[in-house]
Amino acid sequence: VVPDEAWREEVRRLAAERDAVLLAHNYQIPEIQDIADHTGDSLALSRIAAASEASTIVFCGVHFMAESAKILSPDKTVLIPDARAGCSLADSITADQLRAWKAEHPGAVVVSYVNTTAEVKAETDICCTSANAVEVVASVPADREVLFLPDMFLGAHVKRETGRDNLHIWAGECHVHAGINGAELADRAAAQPDAELFIHPECGCATSALYLAGEGVVAADRVKILSTGGMLDQAKETKARSVLVATEIGMLHQLRKAAPGVDFRPVNDRASCRYMKMITPGALLRSLREGTDEVHVASEIAARARGAVQAMIEIGN
Ligand code: 13P
Ligand code: SF4
Repeated sequence: VVPDEAWREEVRRLAAERDAVLLAHNYQIPEIQDIADHTGDSLALSRIAAASEASTIVFCGVHFMAESAKILSPDKTVLIPDARAGCSLADSITADQLRAWKAEHPGAVVVSYVNTTAEVKAETDICCTSANAVEVVASVPADREVLFLPDMFLGAHVKRETGRDNLHIWAGECHVHAGINGAELADRAAAQPDAELFIHPECGCATSALYLAGEGVVAADRVKILSTGGMLDQAKETKARSVLVATEIGMLHQLRKAAPGVDFRPVNDRASCRYMKMITPGALLRSLREGTDEVHVASEIAARARGAVQAMIEIGN
């Protein structure tokens, strides 16, 4: 399927016929981002999904995002154009593993990144995204232990920012962000000494960037650790002429649109999430034509997960 004008018209027509709102994550291919009613980060899209009046949500993103929308809006039909679009980070902890971890830390508050399955959310006190993880953890009384999962790099960022030493971090990672390494970042930053660095906190290189700033290799005010939505806000404000971007490469499309005068370059141009890219123009068309793939969350799981996801969309709003 070629994403041409005829495709765009057909997608718009079918979406209207289904009373569907199309949501696309910042890591989707440009054509999908451009046809969506809303493009954004995980937090913004969850908020939009919860507030939408449309009876159907078509989530162009990965499975846990569509599941979160279903948890928040059980009466809406939630479709994902390809249910195989998973997430290696969400796969890094199961509900059984979380129950065992909780048993080792009775009374601890469980803070889960939204990149988790519904079953893990059902065992969680508060969810967060990269956009509000620091605020969510800071909202937990200082004397309570926190179990933070599943991303160890985001966990390290939160620990640094909150200064909490009673934060335990699960050792999960996203294969795409973990692959953007510190050595690569250091080389790029040295070659472009005037560039700002936009770094997603899931990246292994976030710690290296702060180390480089500490050593005076890069100016500390050039290092920005940001969610994908935060990168977009910063792009609109930056005075820099060039920016090195450490996250999934789909993000470059929105950044270049937001600030056409700035030269945005990926730190690693192979950082592409194969799950995000499963949402093809053909898959979106099929989804709208056939009502596939419908996302279901068992009502008992959704009921136990809802409070944690609801708290996530409220904190930092
Ligand atoms: P954000 O959009 O919350 O920054 O998410 C990053 C991510 O990896 C989603 O899969
Ligand atoms: Fe998951 Fe990483 Fe892909 Fe995001 S980029 S969906 S965290 S595998």
